Amino acid sequence: MADESAGSDTLAHLLARRILVDGPISVGAFMAEALGHPRLGYYIRQDPFGSDGDFTTAPEISQMFGELVGLWCVDSWMRLGGPGPFHLVELGPGRGTLMADVLRAAAVLPLFRDNATVHLVETSPALRERQRRTLQPILGDAIQWHDRLEDVPDGPTILIANEFFDALPIRQVQKTGHGWFERLVDVEPDSSKDDPRFRFVLEAFGSSGSRLVPDALRDAPDGSVVEVSPASQAVAQLIGARLAAAPGAALAIDYGYAQGPAVGDTLQALRRHAFAPVLEAPGEADLTAHVDFASIAAAAREGGAQSFGPVEQGEWLTRLGIHQRASSLMAKATPAQAKDIRSAMDRLIDPAQMGRLFKLVALATPGAFADASPPAGF
Ligand SMILES: C[S@@+](CC[C@H](N)C(=O)[O-])C[C@H]1O[C@@H](n2cnc3c(N)ncnc32)[C@H](O)[C@@H]1O
Repeated sequence: MADESAGSDTLAHLLARRILVDGPISVGAFMAEALGHPRLGYYIRQDPFGSDGDFTTAPEISQMFGELVGLWCVDSWMRLGGPGPFHLVELGPGRGTLMADVLRAAAVLPLFRDNATVHLVETSPALRERQRRTLQPILGDAIQWHDRLEDVPDGPTILIANEFFDALPIRQVQKTGHGWFERLVDVEPDSSKDDPRFRFVLEAFGSSGSRLVPDALRDAPDGSVVEVSPASQAVAQLIGARLAAAPGAALAIDYGYAQGPAVGDTLQALRRHAFAPVLEAPGEADLTAHVDFASIAAAAREGGAQSFGPVEQGEWLTRLGIHQRASSLMAKATPAQAKDIRSAMDRLIDPAQMGRLFKLVALATPGAFADASPPAGF
């Protein structure tokens, strides 16, 4: 990659220079750089959450979300036989809000808290600092951060990941009259060096495109776009292998489709709570794509875990008791607070809001749950 030392360069300048030197890059490489470039990546530089940021996630909408995830963790740990000391792992913990609510709810079983070592897998220094501020009052210095799941020590594990997989790079392939071709990102030919703009092109020879397309979609009509996320599959397989090697359970929550792989271009950019053109400002907007739950579950099974779901978020939160939790919070609230609690619950479970689009997959060590029943809510 070209010289990175020039401090005034934007990520767009760096990517444009790389493309001019090496040729067009995959959508996955563009996404990985836009989100994770070590100096200029979107997550690396800032805390993008909340009403002042670019988007809001379920734990930031209501404490009820993290509390119910926390009860799920406690229930899973108990049904695994309470395997003594274990790793409580979160992938992509954002502001640390979900883990804080999980730990507060887990106070119902002090043994759970006493046996847990908290591991946060997070690449962003800005968000690690935010997580430290959220969690230090609860955990003191007993928090371990890692860049990758591979770095978390082996052993019994309860793992959670909310809106982590949607931030992992996807690759796109497109069907033409001549077969499948990978979509790449190139520099717009008429844009200037000082203000580079980007456009999609198709690879010249179709070798990676035809390798990436799943067999079930090979006969899709011309013009179809298919997305695959080898990065997500690799993480899911690793979770599966962890759960095969030692007792544990994992919960992945995200937005996406249950019956994948599907045809469609779902890559999107969010900036200040509004959609933006995906290639417009790398590093300045959040880039995500729908998660293919079937392929996450399949990769985890390949790794050796058992999979459950997907279940829609509205359904799962209802089964876990969100109505009862909202009622008990509302009983102690002012009328204005009660209204907020109700509208937060609606936002999480209403099928027209997050209730249907967001889904959960659970993974577990095969046969490890004491009563052979599925994890709570599945
Ligand atoms: C959309 S946010 C979700 C945050 C949080 N789970 C929540 O629900 O509020 C994605 C999180 O994953 C982190 N992240 C993104 N890519 C990552 C990667 N490859 N490895 C580790 N963390 C990553 C981001 O820095 C951020 O904390």
